[in-house]
Parts: sequence; C-alpha cells; structure tokens
Amino acid sequence: MSGMTRLTILGIETSCDETAAAVLRLEDGKATILSEIVRSQVEDHAPYGGVVPEIAARAHADIADRVVATALDESGLSLDEIDGIAATSGPGLIGGVMVGMMTGKAMALASGKPFIPVNHLEGHALSPRLAEDCPFPYLLLLVSGGHCQFIEVRGLGDYTRLGTTIDDAAGEAFDKLAKLLHLGFPGGPAVERTAKSGDPTRYKLPRPLLDRPGLDMSFAGLKTAAARIIEAGELSEQDTADLCASYQAAIADCLSARADRAMAGFDGKRLVVAGGVAANGAIRTALNDVAASHGATLIAPPLRHCTDNAAMIALAGAERLAAGAVPDNAMAFAARPRWPLDEARALADPAYGGGKRGAKA
Ligand code: KG4
Ligand code: ZN
Repeated sequence: MSGMTRLTILGIETSCDETAAAVLRLEDGKATILSEIVRSQVEDHAPYGGVVPEIAARAHADIADRVVATALDESGLSLDEIDGIAATSGPGLIGGVMVGMMTGKAMALASGKPFIPVNHLEGHALSPRLAEDCPFPYLLLLVSGGHCQFIEVRGLGDYTRLGTTIDDAAGEAFDKLAKLLHLGFPGGPAVERTAKSGDPTRYKLPRPLLDRPGLDMSFAGLKTAAARIIEAGELSEQDTADLCASYQAAIADCLSARADRAMAGFDGKRLVVAGGVAANGAIRTALNDVAASHGATLIAPPLRHCTDNAAMIALAGAERLAAGAVPDNAMAFAARPRWPLDEARALADPAYGGGKRGAKA
C-alpha cells in the first residue's frame, strides 16, 4: 500500500446512539473531510434517562442506509471513487455495531472495495488528527459517557492504556447526578448549566483514589455522596446549583490530578482530551492548567469530533489502509462488544477489562 498517497474512505459509526457516516480523504498524511452526517437518537432515549440498546439498534437499522447515502451524495463522489469502507466493529452496543458493520460489508461486497473494521476507541484516539497537526506521541484522556481512560498514543496501532475508571465513566457520573436532580438527559450539559450559579466549595464531596499511586479513577462514590445529600432534605434552587458546582469541581479535580501525574511520566508535549465530557468548560480549564504546568499544549478537538462521529472512523480506516494494517479476512470480522485498544496487555492481564464500561462507548 506504500506509494499510495491519496485515499478516500467512507466511514460508518453506529456503536452507541449516533448514526453517522462521513467521507474523508487522506492525502500525504493530511485529512480532509468531504462530507459528514451525524443523526443523534438522544430524543429516543431521553424518556429513559439513558441509552436503551434495543431502541438504539432499531433506530440505526431504520436510518443507516439513508445516512450513508446522504454522506456519499454530499461528498460529490460515487462509490466507485471510494478506496475503502470503514465501519466501527466494536466496542459498543452489539446490535448497533452489527447494523453499521453489515451496511459497510454489503457496500464493500457490492463495489469490490476493501472493508476495514475499525475499533471505535482508535477512532477517538486519532480524532485530534482530523483538524490539527497533531503528530505522535500524545497523551489522550478519553472521557465520555462510556469511557474514562488515559491512553498513550505513540503511533497507529501503538497504544498503551495507562489508567481507567474502576467503576463509572465521568460522563456517566454527570448523567447520574442529572437523573437524581431531574435535570434531563444527557446530564453533562444540564449539570454544567446549573453549576454556573453555584458555589463549588459548598459541599465536600469525595475525590476517590487520589491518595493512591497509579492512574485509575473512580466516580461511583461521588454519585452515592450526592444521593445522600439529595435524600437528606428538599434542596433549594441555590442548593441544587451548589451541588452541581461541587460535583463538577470534584470530577475536574480527579481528572486533572490524574492528568498531572500522567504528564509527569510522559515524554511528549501534547495532552489531548476527547469524548463528550471534553465539552465541559471547568474540566477544560483544569486540564489546560495541567498541560501548561508541564510545558505542554492541551488539544481539544472541536465538539463534533469529541463526541461520536464517523469522520474519526474514516480517518482510522484511511490510516490503516495506507499502512497496510487492515486485519486479514476483514469481511469475516465479527462485531465485538468488547475490544480493548492495547489488546496485548489486556490478554496478559485478565483483570484489565474489555475497554468498555457503562452503556455508552
Ligand atoms: O462522547 P459522547 O457523546 O458519547 C459517548 O459516551 O460515547 O459523550 C456523552 C457524554 C454524556 O455522558 C454527557 O453527559 C457528557 O458526555 N457530556 C458532558 C457535557 N456534554 C456532554 N459532561 C459534562 N459537561 C458537559 N458540558
Ligand atoms: Zn465514543
């Protein structure tokens, strides 16, 4: 595949509650997005306060073909002009993953183009490279509704997970507080909005694991502590704002203390934050301070590339095709509900977990 300097890839993403497709061109290492469609199912899941897998799978099946056709149409290209079709093949909610993967495989079969199974986490890991000149290596904090992990990204396929949450993801913690306070779903933006008029020092909430070595995190205790405060008596509007602000501050402290430790042991000069929680202003500010204190730069992709999208999947597919790093027999690749990024380590250590926690990936 070397010598091929220009690749155009169709990417498909259906692993959680976004149905997305994108056409991306990779030319001499530079990515250009030719088209990009994201259809969120957030309204389908809002009544339940979280993503319901069966509803997600059905919604993906209903619209995946149309989303893909629209992305192709808007790119101005025909399937003939595409060099490969990449689809998220795990980790994630298996019904949705299968819908996207089958759509991609069917198009690959019909057009004779290669199919490229992509690890959703690799998409997030490479997402800063969609917009910026973001050379390897960098330290990635992937912080979403399903993930909260530090990953050292040294090159394509060269990832080391340095630490992870041992229970809830940070986005999940935001969502759970919002549910307790009836602020709506998704919870993160609602909690951030409510926190604006609150006092972050008002409630003393736990910062779990911070007294321990390593880079693991824990957020379940935070939710329990908040639940106890809520159960203790009626909260005024001000109390609610103070609780949101205190809760957000606790999460920001946990993330930035860990980021600080991670940067201290890292030889690169870039800290990247990706995932839906990267939208949070208090967290961005805290991480920005950490990066600065290590003489490093914080890179936060634009929000549409922080949350689930297909451009990052197309990019991962393009980089893999360009490097000749597509799995053998890709058409027979089976969808994987769990698929850790650094599989070698995961295989060596069964306690490592599968790369996915919580309902979202
Ligand atoms: O990356 P994402 O769209 O989906 C996955 O989890 O894969 O992330 C969604 C998560 C939700 O938990 C949502 O509450 C959280 O990101 N989130 C936020 C904010 N915006 C979204 N959390 C805190 N502050 C925000 N402004
Ligand atoms: Zn994701």
